[in-house]
Amino acid sequence: MKTRLAVLGLAALAAVAGVRGVWAGDRTDSKDPAVARTRQIVRMLDDIYKTAVVLITKHYVHDESDLPAGSAAIALFAAIKKKGWHEVRLLDATGEPMDEANSPRDEFEKKAIAHLKAGNAYYEEVVVKDGKRYLRAATALPVVMRKCTMCHPHYEDYKKGQPIGALSYTIPIQE
Ligand code: HEC
Repeated sequence: MKTRLAVLGLAALAAVAGVRGVWAGDRTDSKDPAVARTRQIVRMLDDIYKTAVVLITKHYVHDESDLPAGSAAIALFAAIKKKGWHEVRLLDATGEPMDEANSPRDEFEKKAIAHLKAGNAYYEEVVVKDGKRYLRAATALPVVMRKCTMCHPHYEDYKKGQPIGALSYTIPIQE
């Protein structure tokens, strides 16, 4: 039963993400194979991170005093950045974040949140920093479980599938 519920939860997540086609949102029109490879990595990471957040919330978060999956994800993202792999940020899309540090910060993040709120599931840009190319990508984060509203009561006001947040990636492009 437990496994079946978990599978249902994941199926619901996939269904919500699939509303507009997960990757049907804005992307650079670059046919560059290096960009396409990096986009594929974002896709894989996005599934891993989002599945982990759903599973942790489902199995380990029972009341408001438990460590939220969001906080665990932020700690994980800091460790991954320190190891030099890539950067990921958990962003708020509601204007009422638990922590101001999770508000969209730069132009890319502000633009990405606007695109996601307009109904796209994905937004990306290729940027160059110190002569090196990076893929910046953002994926929508809808309210996937009732439990999310235990600590974020204002998520109740959002319809199923509407983004309340996003994951914002900065990934080095392997040329
Ligand atoms: C036990 C309480 C709790 C639950 C349950 C919870 N969160 Fe959070 N969430 C938090 C806290 C606390 C933060 C701030 C973490 C930080 O910045 O260290 C946060 C941060 C976030 C953020 C970043 C924006 C912000 O508000 O700071 C998003 C997006 C988010 N949570 C989404 C979700 C989703 C989706 C779920 C359900 C899968 C969920 N949360 C369940 C407590 C919770």
